[in-house]
Amino acid sequence: MKYKSLMFLPIFASCLVSCGNNRHDISEYILKTPYKDNYRILQLTDVHLGDKDKLEEHFKFMDITIKEANPDLIVVTGDLFTFASKSTAKSLFDFLDSYEVNWTVCFGNHDEQCYFSIDWMTDVLNNYGEKCLFKDIQDDDIFGNCNFAINLMQGDSVFEQIIVMDSNRYQFGLESMGYDCFKVDQIDWYSRLVDTTKENNGGDTVESLMFYHIPLPEVDDAWENGKDDPSKIKNPTGSVAQKNEKSCPPKKDNHFFDTIKTKGSTKGMYFGHDHINNFIVEYEGIDFGYGIKSTNRVYYQEDMMGGRVIVIKNDHTLEYEDYYHTYKEIA
Ligand SMILES: [Fe+2]
Repeated sequence: MKYKSLMFLPIFASCLVSCGNNRHDISEYILKTPYKDNYRILQLTDVHLGDKDKLEEHFKFMDITIKEANPDLIVVTGDLFTFASKSTAKSLFDFLDSYEVNWTVCFGNHDEQCYFSIDWMTDVLNNYGEKCLFKDIQDDDIFGNCNFAINLMQGDSVFEQIIVMDSNRYQFGLESMGYDCFKVDQIDWYSRLVDTTKENNGGDTVESLMFYHIPLPEVDDAWENGKDDPSKIKNPTGSVAQKNEKSCPPKKDNHFFDTIKTKGSTKGMYFGHDHINNFIVEYEGIDFGYGIKSTNRVYYQEDMMGGRVIVIKNDHTLEYEDYYHTYKEIA
């Protein structure tokens, strides 16, 4: 859905905008790509490129991880830019498109702090090219600018589903001032997506992974519940689960996690936002994963930059591979 400077409107205005009637069929939100054996998704996050950056330096840095990770799909989980112009944005998209790999992005809260609008970026990505698996329906009744799914196809059936959602940017309600949350209409959309996919799959629930930017409010419970339990920590060998800063989920909670649990499809959720937290912890049957920051822009931890591969195994289990690099490697 188009998203016009809501940052400066009262909260009731965003509610009015999201209550439109332009409902689209769920099939219109779905892209398809073949499943490959032990499918490798590289999560990059919080790139934060701006016009003052030496872009080539950051591309060189990310290139190390991308080549090492050998992904089938790259997903950048938001905060792509801060104070970037259109040419900087296009440079990042061209960089991602320079590999023989499908790629996609979701948006973060900082992506509206640029010399272009989120709608401009959405338009560019909607029309980018065949390796860019991005789709947003801009005149629909769903809040946000990147709510779509990628079906990993095995013949005519869906092997797994990748769900990309917009966790939105900021909100200004008196009791919810801060980062925005998933709206009720987005949660309904998620339910319709999971139900329709199940219906079209002979009644069997299709397993899914979700990618978005701002963690759900349950992220702290997930950490507290799992941090001392080796059976809950999923960081791969050699990667230490760390919580080095306060998590910053939205204050307002529309209870998306309850719906996710009830629907029984999503088994892993991957996000960014809090740059120096790095853990994957299983909570109530679902993996919560902070991504690994992928450049040294804004704030970062020297030994915690690179990217993470999420492997969907042929038996539907998940494996994780963490890749860490430093800028010294490109000096
Ligand atoms: Fe960020």
